[in-house]
Amino acid sequence: MSNLAVQIKDLNKNYGSTQALNGLDLEIPEGSFFGLLGPNGAGKTTTINILTGLVNKSGGYAKIFGHDTVSDYRNARKLIGLAPQELSFDFFFNIRDMLALQGGYYGMSFKTGRERADELLNQFGLSEKSENNARQLSGGMKRRLQIAKSLMHDPPMIILDEPTAGVDIELRHMLWKFLKDQNKNGKTILLTTHYIEEAENLCDTVAIIDHGKIIEQGSPRTLIKKSGSSKLEIKVKNWKDNIINDNRDFSFINETLHIPAEKPEKEMIWWIEKLKENNISIEDIHISKSSLEDVFLKLTGRSLND
Ligand SMILES: Nc1ncnc2c1ncn2[C@@H]1O[C@H](COP(=O)(O)OP(=O)(O)O)[C@@H](O)[C@H]1O
Ligand SMILES: [Mg+2]
Repeated sequence: MSNLAVQIKDLNKNYGSTQALNGLDLEIPEGSFFGLLGPNGAGKTTTINILTGLVNKSGGYAKIFGHDTVSDYRNARKLIGLAPQELSFDFFFNIRDMLALQGGYYGMSFKTGRERADELLNQFGLSEKSENNARQLSGGMKRRLQIAKSLMHDPPMIILDEPTAGVDIELRHMLWKFLKDQNKNGKTILLTTHYIEEAENLCDTVAIIDHGKIIEQGSPRTLIKKSGSSKLEIKVKNWKDNIINDNRDFSFINETLHIPAEKPEKEMIWWIEKLKENNISIEDIHISKSSLEDVFLKLTGRSLND
């Protein structure tokens, strides 16, 4: 059995009368690239803030690599780097010194901190800006700086709360590549997102959170398979009802064949052949693949972006 980077049991959080977390259970193995996927208000940030000690829980417990986030706070906190949802920087210093000071919170000397800062600024393409104040950076640069900041003390786990919210496509892809590399090099990653492609692209495991609880968990592929809404649609002319005699699952509505299929591209080849043999002409072909969005819809009856 692999070690657990995160172990959360029956976690509860009330903000006054709002129950943000409602008996949340979650386990994240060391080395995983884990996605917490859910709509706005589901409880993602609250969960992360409890893990990092920014919010007090109302019940249950959370452990980081076996260290309780309350009774063993210091050890737990040392093992994670957090890139929070809201950007927050100290604007009094240039970004190199700001990073060095961040290292100071983890016992790094200012000199070592500056060396580490230079290394990270270089890695994130920010070297040219090292003497600038964070205020003078573009939005995308601020995002990169924020991730660099979370990595200053080289923690084994990185937590990113909606790292690509409001980020342009180019930067999003750059961040994705960077995070994939970090994970390959052994870092456990937890990210929250409401972007489906992000979860599908990056995560080996996704937990779907809604109303403060995990409602489904698995690899993106297994979850998508479960939702079973991939299909092939072929619009035809001069259709004949009797040409399909084996047990193929399909329906014919509005001149269009609707064919549920786990792998629509494969299914398509068979159908094209068959239609050709019977001189049925194809007007249009459309493949629709199910996504984590469909999984969420199936589980809750709502869209992720509602
Ligand atoms: N500081 C707070 N005070 C009161 N309610 C809060 C606070 N933070 C979050 N909430 C509420 O808790 C619920 C979960 O919020 P949050 O964890 O931020 O969700 P997410 O990050 O998934 O969008 C929401 O209903 C939100 O309005
Ligand atoms: Mg949030």
